[in-house]
Amino acid sequence: MNALSHLLQDQVAVVTGGNAGIGKAIALQFAASGAKVAIFGTNAERGAAVVKEIEQANGPNRAQFFSVNVANTAEVEKAIKQVTDTIGQIDILVNNAGITRDQLLMKMSEEDWDTVLNVNVKSCYNTCKAVVRNMMKARKGTIINMSSVVGLSGNAGQTNYAASKAAIIGFTKALAKELSGRSIRVNCICPGFIATAMTEGLTDTQKESILASIPLGKMGSPADIAFAALFLASPLSNYVTGQSLVVDGGMEI
Ligand SMILES: NC(=O)c1ccc[n+]([C@@H]2O[C@H](COP(=O)([O-])OP(=O)(O)OC[C@H]3O[C@@H](n4cnc5c(N)ncnc54)[C@H](O)[C@@H]3O)[C@@H](O)[C@H]2O)c1
Repeated sequence: MNALSHLLQDQVAVVTGGNAGIGKAIALQFAASGAKVAIFGTNAERGAAVVKEIEQANGPNRAQFFSVNVANTAEVEKAIKQVTDTIGQIDILVNNAGITRDQLLMKMSEEDWDTVLNVNVKSCYNTCKAVVRNMMKARKGTIINMSSVVGLSGNAGQTNYAASKAAIIGFTKALAKELSGRSIRVNCICPGFIATAMTEGLTDTQKESILASIPLGKMGSPADIAFAALFLASPLSNYVTGQSLVVDGGMEI
């Protein structure tokens, strides 16, 4: 047991894309801090593996996987209702699921534009709309949306992704203003260059050039982002809302 093990005691958390990368690290950290975690994802096999890992570390009934495409409004509504009915009132929502379909704008297909905006941004509309009514009634809750430093600075070859991540920052600020009267906090995280499947495909030259722009001189780990999410989900950030927390080793300085 450590100082963080009770921070989210008995809280119910939904983590989208919680079966890999950053989302998996958040699911593991939240469970280690006392939360019951509902993982939304599209890969049932990986979801089951994360549930097993959480239960081995923290005991039974601490995690459940829900097969959900977060871009699909009906699937999200159904899954949120299932979580509320079977696990309990949702206290924490983390919109982490996200994808890239990189291409220069000149060559970008309409499908790649729409898919990225739907998975990265419409998902936030879907999940937030499905949870806010109950959170407002309960007059509590925290929402964390996963943006990116690319949403602040842009990046060639990522107009769709950068637009989606900048949209998440605006969405977060607007929703924070809508919900603050009911004590519900809404924040986002802007990770920099984090070692996951998303960044694995970059060439060595691309990686070297990104690393050269990071004052701390290294890639971040999914756990680095999970600690930021724990801060924003917990009472440690009681007076923080509408913010974009940049976790990037100094890239954006
Ligand atoms: N890795 C980085 O360097 C980095 C930097 C900035 C922001 N981010 C953001 O962090 C988040 C997590 O990224 P990651 O690096 O862990 O990526 P990842 O590819 O390792 O994981 C993404 C997760 O989202 C899930 N997912 C994708 N589409 C989905 C859908 N339609 N419905 C449900 N789940 C879906 C995947 O199954 C996976 O679990 C993303 O929003 C990403 O944009 C990552």
